[in-house]
Amino acid sequence: MILLLGASGYIGEAFATELQRRKKEFIPLARQQVDYSRFDVLLEFLRAKKPSFVVNAAGYTGKPNVDACELDKAGTLVGNTLLPQTLAHACAAEGIPWGHISSGCIFSGAKILEHGKVRVEKNMNRPELHALAEKKSPAILGFDETDTPNFSFRDQPCSFYSGTKALGEEALANIGQSYVWRLRIPFDEFDNQRNYLSKVQRYSKVYENVNSISHRADFVKACLDTWELRAPFGIYNVTNPGYVTTRHVVEQIEKFLKPPRKFEFWADDAEFYKVAAKTPRSNCVMDVSKLLAAGVKIRGVEEALEDSLKNWKPE
Ligand SMILES: NC(=O)c1ccc[n+]([C@@H]2O[C@H](COP(=O)([O-])OP(=O)(O)OC[C@H]3O[C@@H](n4cnc5c(N)ncnc54)[C@H](OP(=O)(O)O)[C@@H]3O)[C@@H](O)[C@H]2O)c1
Repeated sequence: MILLLGASGYIGEAFATELQRRKKEFIPLARQQVDYSRFDVLLEFLRAKKPSFVVNAAGYTGKPNVDACELDKAGTLVGNTLLPQTLAHACAAEGIPWGHISSGCIFSGAKILEHGKVRVEKNMNRPELHALAEKKSPAILGFDETDTPNFSFRDQPCSFYSGTKALGEEALANIGQSYVWRLRIPFDEFDNQRNYLSKVQRYSKVYENVNSISHRADFVKACLDTWELRAPFGIYNVTNPGYVTTRHVVEQIEKFLKPPRKFEFWADDAEFYKVAAKTPRSNCVMDVSKLLAAGVKIRGVEEALEDSLKNWKPE
């Protein structure tokens, strides 16, 4: 039996759907039923139910966006840093392997191959780099699992949300047996205020940048596959291979959904941060070679994006 924490959330419900599809026995647990954020309560529950695996889809995301985390720093820290550490200790005490949902938002930018050397570039909106991204230059490389987060409390600026997610990875490291699955900007065909494709359609103006993104169902399938394939424990970037510019996402939305509105973009970062955002946003390219080398199959970002828009289900 698999224990699923945070099953009521946007990502947790996708795990529940996929576990049902795979006919896996699982318990979807909410804090209201059993306060799994408390070590003693969680340990007792694990001892009684003896799950073979635990999925932690619980965390504090901030609604409608990460700016909300700046107003509830204690809650953000509890959900994203203390909870994973509590879980790590409880699962280790019972010898239960588990998986934790982290985020790619602990990185900013991409790695650039230049004159035979690789350097980190935090700002992909610099015109010459953005031009490279538009033509999908092989000089743009994603961050891999050996890279140190560069959008964290240790490498500022960062949002409070991202800081707690990076600290969450540190808090569970070297305790027991776990997967850390890094999700990045979830999207799919189901119109929803949490879906990136819905968000882009609803913004008054769109923010241009370069990002790797994760199709929600592809993400949960890939995560569960790491466990089913018994891939080595550790960190895995779990995005659809590749990356997109926001402008390209808008072009695809226009092509497939033909919305009645005309999309406008913020003039630059200065305007975006003055009008639409409070805390710094992460935008980054992720490398998924480790996931693919583990034998996990996940389709490329273009295919996942097109498929979502072709099968779009308005709310
Ligand atoms: N959505 C994204 O854009 C995104 C991107 C990258 C990574 N992630 C990560 O994916 C995980 C799930 O995100 P989500 O979008 O599914 O979030 P969500 O819709 O807000 O659901 C999270 C669930 O976590 C549980 N929870 C446990 N402790 C909590 C706390 N202290 N504060 C708030 N909720 C708490 C709640 O379930 P109960 O109270 O019912 O138990 C809640 O339903 C999080 O770790 C998040 O950081 C999300």
